Amino acid sequence: MANVTVKVVVLVSGTGTLLQSLIDAVEAGDVDADVVAVVSDQESAPALTRARRHGIEAIAHPWAKGTDRAIWDAQLADIVAAFEPHLVASAGFMKLLGENFLSRFGGTTINTHPSLLPSFPGMRAARDALAAGVKVTGATVFLVDEGIDTGRILYQSAVEVLDDDDADKLHERIKTAERELLVRAVREWEPGEA
Ligand code: GAR
Repeated sequence: MANVTVKVVVLVSGTGTLLQSLIDAVEAGDVDADVVAVVSDQESAPALTRARRHGIEAIAHPWAKGTDRAIWDAQLADIVAAFEPHLVASAGFMKLLGENFLSRFGGTTINTHPSLLPSFPGMRAARDALAAGVKVTGATVFLVDEGIDTGRILYQSAVEVLDDDDADKLHERIKTAERELLVRAVREWEPGEA
């Protein structure tokens, strides 16, 4: 399908600098996409404030202790479905998406991760890369499946590990690469692709 503006829902948990890069690219006309909503598991995520500042609908779907994961997951899918997105982009979203979500958005949900998968999956990828002593790590955008960072790899970009890196410094440089990959992934997404 050519010349279709890609409707994207972005899932976030925290700061939202990756989200910001996508919003900026859309506003600059670099990507033919529309960020139709931003959804977070964290009510106070700064990423929600970023979205609202740009007139984007921002919704909290909080995760509380004791929440039934399957129900929460199905509710998340309902929230997302209301926006009829072509693509769901998980960008710094710290919850695993389960069966109830992926049965509806499985082929159309991407995630960005701060390592060259399959190396260093999980929540502390930059720290794990440093601990392993690798000289090159990077960023990955992949299609989400039910595993932990196991889905089909779509884009990768290498980032050198420097001698004086700590986990924060390294993660910040990786995030620069992730921002570029996320924008590219949305730009090149073909609605209907899966
Ligand atoms: C990014 O590095 C993203 O890959 C990571 O959180 C950061 C979000 O940054 N996500 C994960 O590690 C998910 N497992 P941001 O809030 O500044 O956009």
